[in-house]
Amino acid sequence: MTVRYSVPRGTSDILPGQIAIWQEIDKQARAILSRFNYREIRTPIFEETGLFKRSLGQTSDIVNKQLLELASNKEEGYSLRPEGTAPIVRAYLENSLDKQESLSKLFYIGPMFRGERPQKGRLRQFNQIGVEVIGLNADSLYIDCEVIILSMSLLKAFGVQGSKLLINTLGSENDKVKLAGYLRDKLKGRAPELCEDCQNRFERNVFRILDCKERSCINIVAGINFDNSYLSEESRIRFESIKDILQKNKIEFIEAPRLVRGLDYYTETVFEITNPNLGSQDAVGAGGRYNNLPEVIGGESKKDIRGIGFSLGIERIILAIDEELKKVEEKLDIFLAVLGKGEIVEQGFAILNSLRRAGFSADMGYQESSLKSQMRFANKCNARLVVMIGEDEVRKKAVLLKDMVKSEQEEILFSEDNLDVLINKARERLKVLC
Ligand code: HAM
Repeated sequence: MTVRYSVPRGTSDILPGQIAIWQEIDKQARAILSRFNYREIRTPIFEETGLFKRSLGQTSDIVNKQLLELASNKEEGYSLRPEGTAPIVRAYLENSLDKQESLSKLFYIGPMFRGERPQKGRLRQFNQIGVEVIGLNADSLYIDCEVIILSMSLLKAFGVQGSKLLINTLGSENDKVKLAGYLRDKLKGRAPELCEDCQNRFERNVFRILDCKERSCINIVAGINFDNSYLSEESRIRFESIKDILQKNKIEFIEAPRLVRGLDYYTETVFEITNPNLGSQDAVGAGGRYNNLPEVIGGESKKDIRGIGFSLGIERIILAIDEELKKVEEKLDIFLAVLGKGEIVEQGFAILNSLRRAGFSADMGYQESSLKSQMRFANKCNARLVVMIGEDEVRKKAVLLKDMVKSEQEEILFSEDNLDVLINKARERLKVLC
């Protein structure tokens, strides 16, 4: 019996025909991130489970329901990373970046893992582009604005249109405690009407009730008046100033008092970017401040280090991009059609490698076949030029160069160890600078 293996649920293969948009996003992201002076950091895809429990909170859905733990005989082992912020703060502290610079502007691109119930835009392995700004000097409210502007600039560069930026503030750690108390107070009388999940969340993580998608919970939450009374004067002024700076820099936003985010580490500014092309999982990215996380991970001595960041989901970016923009054409500079065998193939292969060394993208078919079928192959590769070599050409030390766009053909003579004539002709036709 043949066993058929399939891709694990909630994950997907990205095939060569689909990769162009991924590469384009990667390229655009790196260009914009370097314009904003962010540097790449890469951390392992798994970490000690305790790091996530302490950072994201024992009661967050990600830790509670979605952590993909690796089998281990240790009491608390390792888990695949569900997000990048905690690992990056861990790496920042472990490698003493705080001793080397007062502000670290970091970015990462890579896979994250959550044991979710899969649906459109909700996967078990997905990819994020994220940034984290960490340091003793990371407190400036201009950094909040830079990070928000950067997230919107990235989406614009990818061609994601129609996104909405929602912003809110949770205030300081103390303000957050007050907000939780306020919410419990408002929800107390309606607790029996909440869905089962939210009844559990009421004590453990009341903020999550605001994200619930159940109609009954949405209606109850809609009735709560959010008047910012939980905010300290300092946090209120800070938020007002951030909004003012965003306006002055022509960033449109919507104030969303119900936006609280489900992870424990957030304080002060939080934001989320939604896109109407996404359906029910409509957040293309999200982020916020996490001023207490360095202390939670690194202890008392790290309590003055501040942080803020965001991440964008690449699969959701691709879902939100207009179909037309996804059609990135693949191209090959030169296809080498070899007509014959033995010495002809040997010479053809040497020419192919000389062309590649000269900087062209080039390929051949590796199987003896008719000119017609090799031309079909060249067309499939979208080759701009075809170099043909057969018995006659080997004898004459020549090749035929065909321009597939102009439908022109010329014979080019060359000496065995000098292909310059061919290389220059090909360059001229392709106008490539190598
Ligand atoms: P998050 O809201 O959990 O935040 O995820 C950020 C983005 O990742 C989401 O807006 C979405 O685009 C994408 N995403 C999340 N889960 C999935 C999934 N199961 N399938 C597909 N895409 C998904 C964080 O991860 C924080 N670490 C963001 C942050 C960085 N805050 C501060 N710094």
